[in-house]
Amino acid sequence: MNLFDVYPLYDITPVKGKGAFVYDKQGTEYLDLYGGHAVISIGHSHPVYVSAIQDQVEKLGFYSNSIKNPLQKELADKLGKISGFEDYNLFLCNSGAEANENALKVASFHTGKNRVIYFDNAFHGRTSGVVAVTDNESIKAPFNLNHAVTKLSFNEIERLEDELKKEDVAAVILEVIQGVGGLDEVSTEFLIVASELCKKYKTLLIADEVQSGYGRTGDFFAFQKHGIRPDIISIAKGMGNGFPIGGILIGNSIPARSGMLGTTFGGNHLACAAGIAVLDVIEKEQLLQNATELYEYVKNKVAEVPQIKRLKGRGLMLGLEFDFEVAALRKELLFQHNIFTGAASNKKLLRILPPLNVEKEHFDILFEGLKIALKKENSPKV
Ligand SMILES: Cc1ncc(COP(=O)(O)O)c(C=O)c1O
Repeated sequence: MNLFDVYPLYDITPVKGKGAFVYDKQGTEYLDLYGGHAVISIGHSHPVYVSAIQDQVEKLGFYSNSIKNPLQKELADKLGKISGFEDYNLFLCNSGAEANENALKVASFHTGKNRVIYFDNAFHGRTSGVVAVTDNESIKAPFNLNHAVTKLSFNEIERLEDELKKEDVAAVILEVIQGVGGLDEVSTEFLIVASELCKKYKTLLIADEVQSGYGRTGDFFAFQKHGIRPDIISIAKGMGNGFPIGGILIGNSIPARSGMLGTTFGGNHLACAAGIAVLDVIEKEQLLQNATELYEYVKNKVAEVPQIKRLKGRGLMLGLEFDFEVAALRKELLFQHNIFTGAASNKKLLRILPPLNVEKEHFDILFEGLKIALKKENSPKV
């Protein structure tokens, strides 16, 4: 049987990972500044993580959500403590799209309304409801086009209020820092006003922290810098360091009802063991602090490279913007310098999403590689 051919692939086959590096069969070492798309939070094969999963699978890998699983509460307690959202309730699922899908469903159940507002350049996933609120028509099938959704631009406060006034809007969903969209950040002013308007018109504000959460920006959640408290917060990527796990944090004014949400695999024993290990490492190794400190280091390094026109993002959710398209530069970094980086829908942006325990020396390797690649005569036009 062949695989359904949907992914453009690099001809590289990593078989092993350690910290910020992955290795192929021949033992070639690659520096992973992409983290499998912001997923690797505590580094590949972290020993605490490996032994937590090993221990758990030897005891009990899975049972369904029809029994008591104290690991779920342990995970929720740790997450509440480290994030400062102890008064929220946690629902566990398996991916970012599923987290957002459940967030929209809770908002619709709670408000009794059905329309959702989203924003230019948004990416919230590929399943039915969330692809409808993603700003990419090429990934929407006819089946996905029947949702009641409205797209706005950030900072269109008056239009936002006009839409909310119609009183059919269940949720406003946004990424405080857009990932796939290219690292643009919503202004504090817009977030505060949007949050107040949502309260006024009984609409729920959903912060999609699938990519920007879990310490990636140096704060546990990217919105925390702006002083808002969204009604629902969705999480996934960094949460399991590669083990599939996602979730939503739901404000305590939104009551649960039996059967309102559900999943077979969500919150299973192995996923919880992985999630708990991730939080333990984030706390013990002070990875939020590391993300903040390394941002300052990267800022100084960027100043040494005149071809970089702008540093976008915060912490370790970064974009280096050039005035040319970076596809060739990314390839050069990967195949000549063995460095993984990421792309964005803004083709001039090189995305950097390393493990949160990346070190200064790893960035030295990146900037050395960049300088050589940018100097080469046959390099992209600069
Ligand atoms: C902000 C954001 N939301 C949701 C998703 C979807 O997550 P998943 O691919 O786990 O479904 C992504 C994935 O890139 C994302 O970046």
